[in-house]
Amino acid sequence: MLSLPALLTERFQAVTGVDPELRPATRPQFGHFQSNVALRLAKAEGRPPREIAQRIVAEVDVADLCEPLEIAGPGFVNIRLKAEVLAGVVTGILTDPDSVIERTSEPQKVVIDYSAPNVAKQMHVGHLRTTIIGDCFNRVLTAVGHEVLPQNHIGDWGTQFGMLVEQVLDEGIDAAALSLPEAEDLYKRGSKRFREDAEFAERARRRVVALQSGDPQTRAIWQALIDVSLVGFNDTYARLNVKLTDEHLAGESTYNDDLASVAAELQASGTAVVDQGALVVFVDGFNAPMIVRKSDGGYGYSITDLAAVRHRVRDLHANRIIYVTDARQSDHFAQVFAVCRLAGWLPDDVLAQHIGYGMVLGTDGKPYKTREGKAMLLADLLDIAEEQASPEIALAAIKYADLSSGLQKDYVFDAARMTATTGNTGPYLQYAHARVSGILRKAQAEGWGAGTVTVLDEPAEQALALQLSRFGEVVAEVAQTLQPHKLCTYLFDTATALSSFYEQCPVLKSEGAVRESRLAICAATRTVLGRGLDLLGIVAPDRM
Ligand code: ARG
Repeated sequence: MLSLPALLTERFQAVTGVDPELRPATRPQFGHFQSNVALRLAKAEGRPPREIAQRIVAEVDVADLCEPLEIAGPGFVNIRLKAEVLAGVVTGILTDPDSVIERTSEPQKVVIDYSAPNVAKQMHVGHLRTTIIGDCFNRVLTAVGHEVLPQNHIGDWGTQFGMLVEQVLDEGIDAAALSLPEAEDLYKRGSKRFREDAEFAERARRRVVALQSGDPQTRAIWQALIDVSLVGFNDTYARLNVKLTDEHLAGESTYNDDLASVAAELQASGTAVVDQGALVVFVDGFNAPMIVRKSDGGYGYSITDLAAVRHRVRDLHANRIIYVTDARQSDHFAQVFAVCRLAGWLPDDVLAQHIGYGMVLGTDGKPYKTREGKAMLLADLLDIAEEQASPEIALAAIKYADLSSGLQKDYVFDAARMTATTGNTGPYLQYAHARVSGILRKAQAEGWGAGTVTVLDEPAEQALALQLSRFGEVVAEVAQTLQPHKLCTYLFDTATALSSFYEQCPVLKSEGAVRESRLAICAATRTVLGRGLDLLGIVAPDRM
């Protein structure tokens, strides 16, 4: 269903030819919307604005939706929706709660590459945003009817495993018995020795070769390090309440067997050339060529991403690929996409997008670090927020702070402000949901069953109904533009409209049809808030 504003816009445009630019009316006596389209057309046509307005009012076909249109002042068109149309919106939500979200007419297969922590390292603040944002995209795109394939491109391959495995053997420990923090400590001991001990470094390098050639003992230790890391990652995912599971794992090592053919294909087509012993691709507009294969024959981070794109399009049949990483990787992905287009692995009709996000800052405005100057661990951030509120509320606070302003912007992790139940915060929205749930619970205890809307006279209840009608459109927009802050703003505005409604329209204290109608508005608002929060990955509690 189109939202009422969208529907009206369409009907006006059929007559005016241009966007009527409907604006919310500034006062209730002006109706619900105003348009200055007549003034704009009058200028262009050199005719009096009121004359144009009269023509528009006579020709626009909105009698089913609106009271008779009115002309005000120099030629504004005032639009007032019929109360029964607004009532119909609310009743529609109650009878078919699923109808609040518009299903797309063109379902796609969408790969979302997000989270991607690194083996033998705990997730840190950098992984917080990719995981939360990617999870939100997953929820929104799934809700509108796309098939989402999350791909968790974990860092499970690379030369660091040479020194990790060598350190395990030197210490004679059982890698499978490590916890993730212990594996990270091992990593630190190993890299210290790698820097300080030339003999160890040499053994570590030979160990990389053994890993690559599939030496069973080396592979077994490598696999054990992955397994213990996954336990840690999955704990974090559970704590974050995100929808990533082992079935979405597609780490860097998944592409090992594809790399030689990626390089060969690029070279055969002339896309890649040998330059000083390395295989590289020159792409217009980039400072440096992409290194596909190093002069020593080794493969790096870039070719793995090329292989991943090829696999996602060719084998997974993705129509759209979305990468969620910090903004500093945007050149890398632009270059990966460009090379894949040149190679024919990324056809023009497959959309590839890198969504780069800003940093998490401390209250001092600097990148959030521990006292020792290390990147903050994700688990520690959750602990800090939980000092202020229950886990459910703390998590809502973090997710909302992460999603509610433009993703590219840095944001300040201010636990006290984020967890407040007033202001533009996640907990405020949870509270709005809990409060409206409480009203409905009371009514139910007094014998209320689901009712319909028959009376909708007050401006505050009409404004709320109108706001509810826009939900589907906002969700569709977020699915398109990948800007979750629009959904956050919408939900905040809905909660604000709900509190004006409470102030002006007594619910439990009213009687008869008015009470029935207002309870129905409450129930519909609860549905919209609940669905909206769920799309952000935030739990909507019934009590708080
Ligand atoms: N593992 C990388 C990191 O922690 C992120 C990988 C992002 N995804 C990708 N396909 N390159 O920074």
